[in-house]
Amino acid sequence: MTTEKPFLSDVQTLRDRARQHLDDGAVTPNYQGDTGKAIEILQSVLATELVCVLRYTMHSITASGLSSQGAKKEFAEHAKEEHEHALTVAERITQLGGEPNFDPEGLATRSASQYSAGGDLVDMIKENLIAERIAVEHYRELIRYFGDDDPTTRVMLEGILSVEEEHADDMHDLLVAHEGKPMLEG
Ligand SMILES: [Fe+2]
Ligand SMILES: [Fe+2]
Repeated sequence: MTTEKPFLSDVQTLRDRARQHLDDGAVTPNYQGDTGKAIEILQSVLATELVCVLRYTMHSITASGLSSQGAKKEFAEHAKEEHEHALTVAERITQLGGEPNFDPEGLATRSASQYSAGGDLVDMIKENLIAERIAVEHYRELIRYFGDDDPTTRVMLEGILSVEEEHADDMHDLLVAHEGKPMLEG
């Protein structure tokens, strides 16, 4: 990470991407008439979770340095939880009559969060913190979107959201531990 600026504008891009599915559907969120829309949104959630699995797994293997053991363990734990989220979402897509999209082709484009191999340990922690913040914002919006039209999907997302909030907290604590100061607000 050379400067703060491109880092932060990247977040904006990702947030915009996370929202693009909402923009055209938020006006009339009529789930009964549009399971297709629900499935489309959940495909993007599935992709987001899969990218998080890959990123955390990569970091859990490659993080190095004297003080990286705690972070490696945390990354591995998060990878496992992101995998559980992916499975839950995939099952919901199936329940709604869709076919969960696990195709690696286009995965990064479908995802709201970004894959980044990361440089040093602090870069990795930052990348994960950003991804978690994007997930938290994205899922909060989706929870409002599904509202009472699809309480089952909403409750599922609420469960996932609470874990993502814990993940963001964990990454924030790690960042403070390794860098001594919290990251600027994005
Ligand atoms: Fe997740
Ligand atoms: Fe997470």
